[in-house]
Amino acid sequence: MKIDVLTIFPDMFKGPMETSIIGRAQGKGIVSIQTHDVRDYTDNKHRRVDDTPFGGGAGMVMMAQPFFDALEKILDAKAGEKAPDTRVVLLTPQGKTFDQAKARELSQIPRLVMLCGRYEGIDDRVRQVWVDEELSIGDYVLTGGELAAMVIIDAVVRLLPGALGDESSAEEESFSDGLLEYPQFTKPAQFRGLEVPPVLLSGHHASIRRWRRKESLKRTYQVRPELLKERNFDFDDQVLMAE
Ligand code: ADE
Repeated sequence: MKIDVLTIFPDMFKGPMETSIIGRAQGKGIVSIQTHDVRDYTDNKHRRVDDTPFGGGAGMVMMAQPFFDALEKILDAKAGEKAPDTRVVLLTPQGKTFDQAKARELSQIPRLVMLCGRYEGIDDRVRQVWVDEELSIGDYVLTGGELAAMVIIDAVVRLLPGALGDESSAEEESFSDGLLEYPQFTKPAQFRGLEVPPVLLSGHHASIRRWRRKESLKRTYQVRPELLKERNFDFDDQVLMAE
């Protein structure tokens, strides 16, 4: 997979995208993440990327020109004529909320292009001509799309084949089956008088599975009950919930 990020703060991506699983995935050639400084594409000598909004109001708007020129160069395409295997995503609080299903969908796309806005956003003509999809990472306002882009990249790249050491771990956890994860414990079995649930030490795999499933259901009911709505529970889950 190839990911291009358009931003005026490419340095923000340096540490996070070179560290741990994402860094290793890049090293292994599973993904290539390239940042592009939008300022390098300005056509004015002051390298200005923003201007005041038409119609008035507070703040500044990022100009269309540097984004158009950057996208034409990076995608080697005229406006609106990019390749079909490329998805252009705009990070904005006005977008649809990103979730695990969207992460799975994006992980199947060969080329992602992420547009990061700052200030009061980007001239809407960029969205009209280039953007396939607007995504938000939640109902709060960040100072720019960069952190949102990194969140999405992280969630997508870990799903790529080979990115996690243990292939099963991407699918075995929270949200892959729509429930929150059960509690985990590691050695020692006794720590400052605090015990590990005895079933986990029993070596009894069926009982352990059952205990974990029940804890997942309980935690989801307590913390995120809306995840349980509109869900069809199989017989085993219904028995666990009745206990
Ligand atoms: N830019 C500013 N806030 C954002 C958010 N919540 N999600 C995505 N991009 C953003």
